[in-house]
Amino acid sequence: MPTPNNQKLKTSIDFANLQYQYQLYKKEIDQAIHKVLDTSNYIMGEEVQELEENLQVFTGAKHAITCSSGTDALLLAMMALDIGPGDEVITTPFTFIATAESIAFLGATPVFVDIDEKTYNIDAAKIEAAITAKTKAILPVSLYGQPADMDAIQAIADKYDLKVIIDGAQSFGATYKGKTDSNLGDISTTSFFPAKPLGCFGDGGAVFTDDDTLAEKIKSLRVHGQSKRYHHRYIGMGGRMDTIQCAIVDVKLKHYKKDLALRQEVAKKYTEALKDKDLVLPFVEERVTSAFAQYSIRVQNRDNVQVHLKEKGIPTAVHYPMPLPLQECFVYLGYKKGDFPVSEIVSDEIMSLPMNPYVNDDEISYISHRFE
Ligand SMILES: Cc1ncc(COP(=O)(O)O)c(C=O)c1O
Repeated sequence: MPTPNNQKLKTSIDFANLQYQYQLYKKEIDQAIHKVLDTSNYIMGEEVQELEENLQVFTGAKHAITCSSGTDALLLAMMALDIGPGDEVITTPFTFIATAESIAFLGATPVFVDIDEKTYNIDAAKIEAAITAKTKAILPVSLYGQPADMDAIQAIADKYDLKVIIDGAQSFGATYKGKTDSNLGDISTTSFFPAKPLGCFGDGGAVFTDDDTLAEKIKSLRVHGQSKRYHHRYIGMGGRMDTIQCAIVDVKLKHYKKDLALRQEVAKKYTEALKDKDLVLPFVEERVTSAFAQYSIRVQNRDNVQVHLKEKGIPTAVHYPMPLPLQECFVYLGYKKGDFPVSEIVSDEIMSLPMNPYVNDDEISYISHRFE
C-alpha cells in the first residue's frame, strides 16, 4: 500500500490524491466494476437503484435520483419546476459556471446577489431587493462544502412563494442544523465529479427531493421525458448515470463518513497551522458542518504566492478567479465591474490549498512554513 504522495514527499504534494483513494478501496471497487461487466447491464442496472437507496439513507432525503452530472442535476431540478423563458432565478455570482449556466441554458435569467464576506455564500440579507414579479426560485450554492444561510433563504422563499434549489455539488454530506443539505429546500443537487468529496471515475450527479410528484417527474425527465418506453410526456434529456459509475460511488459511499471526517480533520489542522499567518482562513458557521471540498484561503499577491508554492511542489487552484456576471457569456445581462464588490475582492484573493482526506501532518507543516 503506497503512502500518500509516497514518491516525492514534501517535494510534490497531490492536490486531490485520487489515486491514493483508489488504491485504498481498489479491491472493493474493482469487484464492483467487474460485477457490472459480468452482467453487461451498463444502463440502469441494479447498482443504480442500490446507490439511490443508499444515498437516501445517507442524506435523509426521501428521493435520490442519480443522473449524468452535477450540471445535469441542476437542469433536471429546474426543468421539473418548469423554469424557463421569462423566469428569473436568484443565485450567487461566486460559484462554478454550471450554477448560472444551467439557468441561462433553460432560457431563464440568472439574477445575481452578492456574497457574504465571511462564508462567501450568497448574502441572504440582499436577496429580497432582487426579487421581481418574474422571480421563480432561489438557487444558493453550498460553496466549498458549506451550506448557505438556509433559514433566511427559506423564509424569503416562503414569503414570496418561490422555490429553493440547492446546488450542493461541493457539499455532499454537509449539514445545516443537523440535516444534510441534500435534505433542504424543494430540490437539492450534487455532483460526483472525480475531485468532489464523493466522486466517481467520470461524470455523475444526483438530485434529491422529498416531493413524490417532483421525484417522478425528474425520473422521467432524465430518460427523455418518457412515461413508458417510447412514450414521451415531457421534453427531457439523456441524463442517466452509468451503472459502473453508480457501482463505484456506492463503494465509496460506504467509506464516506470516515473520509468526510478526515477532510474535516485536515481542515482543522490547516487552520491551526495557519492561524497566525497574514491570511484569511475559512470561516465555518456554528450551525453547519462543511464537506470541505476545498480549503480556500485569501492571500495578498496571489499570483506570486501561487508561483512560490508551485516552486516548492505545492499545487494550488483558484476557485474562482472572476465573478460570473463579469464572464463573457453573461455580457448580455448588462452587469459591470463594481456591481458585486465582495465577490470581486474575494475572486482576486482566493486560493485553494491541496485538500483531500489524506493530506498528512508533514504536508500541512511543510505547506504552512511556506507562508513565513
Ligand atoms: C458549484 C458547482 N455547481 C455545479 C457543478 C457541476 O458539476 P459537474 O461537473 O458534475 O457537472 C460543479 C462542479 O464542478 C460545482 O462546483
